[in-house]
Amino acid sequence: MDISAIILAAGQGTRMNSEQPKVLHELGGAPLLVHALRSAASLEPARTVVVAGVGGDAVEAAARAWDPDVVTVRQDEQLGTGHAVLQARPALTDAAGDAVILYGDTPFIRPETLEAMQEARAHFDIVVLGFDVPDPTARYGRLVTRGDSLEAIVEFKDADDDTRAIPLCNSGVVMANVAILFTLLDAVTNDNAAEEYYLTDIVGIARSKGLTATVVRCDEAETLGINTRAELAAAEAAFQSRARAEAMEDGVGFVAPDTVYLAYDTVLGRDAVVEPNVIFGPGVTVESGARIRAFSHLEGCHVSRGATVGPFARLRPGAELAEDVHIGNFVEIKNAQIDEGAKINHLSYVGDASVGSKTNIGAGTITCNYDGVFKHRTTIGKGVFVGSNTMLVAPVTLGNDSMTASGTVVTGDVPAGDLAVGRARQVNKPGLARKMFERLRAAKAAKSKGA
Ligand code: UD1
Ligand code: CA
Repeated sequence: MDISAIILAAGQGTRMNSEQPKVLHELGGAPLLVHALRSAASLEPARTVVVAGVGGDAVEAAARAWDPDVVTVRQDEQLGTGHAVLQARPALTDAAGDAVILYGDTPFIRPETLEAMQEARAHFDIVVLGFDVPDPTARYGRLVTRGDSLEAIVEFKDADDDTRAIPLCNSGVVMANVAILFTLLDAVTNDNAAEEYYLTDIVGIARSKGLTATVVRCDEAETLGINTRAELAAAEAAFQSRARAEAMEDGVGFVAPDTVYLAYDTVLGRDAVVEPNVIFGPGVTVESGARIRAFSHLEGCHVSRGATVGPFARLRPGAELAEDVHIGNFVEIKNAQIDEGAKINHLSYVGDASVGSKTNIGAGTITCNYDGVFKHRTTIGKGVFVGSNTMLVAPVTLGNDSMTASGTVVTGDVPAGDLAVGRARQVNKPGLARKMFERLRAAKAAKSKGA
């Protein structure tokens, strides 16, 4: 059946004490909103509508950056969750099938949970995701049930003590036929303790009209909403420990898993080894058997089988390492293809470049890729030996099997098989070092006598 996703992201997030809208704060290297969009995407929705509010331009931009097909609408005044969902109506006039309501500040809803809700929809008109919290002071809406039937949702503020004692709480995630959802929302009023249009009221209204409703349960951790920076940090810790555990189950070796930080989309192959204190930004794939050594930082890059990276290496977006490449300490690679078996072992910057197979780049080599205005490419062939401390002033090409003498500033192309030497010729002055030492030591002795 067709499904549309409605993601509420209009919350002010004032408790973050931030210039940034709450849903744009990052978890596992992606905005909270992207995590909600990914949950939604697991249902392959025909349409996804993000309801933005305060800081809406940035929220809309982030949603579209993730998926240009996402439709965004505005809720200018926060009049309640029911009012927020109604803002999506004009974007869904031609939608058939179901709608699922998710939240931009609730990043952990699992695809399996949404699937279970879809299955329950076969038997009930409205499906609400609930969780158990046996704490009568927890400020959640309570789910009033009779057997499998959900009779009503009562907001904490409006609940009496008996209702607050119900352990079954509302996550806010709801699934229902899209036309029925909006019809029910039309009947919602703001006659309640908060004077808000509650989405939750649709359940009682539906029951009074003879429609059916039920609850699908999940863990509280899954429905965790983020309101403060402390909650965000706790969510990050939870995300990291789950991601590490999953990677280890997939056969990834961690020496000290608690010191490795993964992104939401990090892909690590079986028998890849990650040493302590490695940080993965978004967009990293490390293939089987590759080794990422301690204190390396990787983002937007691909490390093939048998390659080693680090310690203290930095791979930036567009770094493509083929099999058996060696990247050593204090080496930075950006937007560069490094072919099979090439070695860049010490203190180098290689950016906007391609490096051929079996090429060796000596210590301290720099691709001078930026002239202050434009970026230029460096092309290095196969089997090249780049001497230490070579400056490659791009655009420049080094042919296959060429060499550069150490200290060379390469400003012109080097043909295949040639050696480029571009440095001042060395001159030795016989005995001059000894003479200079004598003169300097004598000066020092005279100075200390005078003092
Ligand atoms: C809501 C539920 C409550 C549930 C709880 C779970 C309602 C009325 N109550 O309460 O039953 O236990 O979530 O966390 O739905 N939002 C908007 N526009 C608005 C109001 C809210 O976009 O006008 C968004 C917020 O950004 C937030 C979400 O909807 O992401 C929930 O709103 P919030 O005010 O936090 O509702 P709760 O009082 O927590
Ligand atoms: Ca909330």
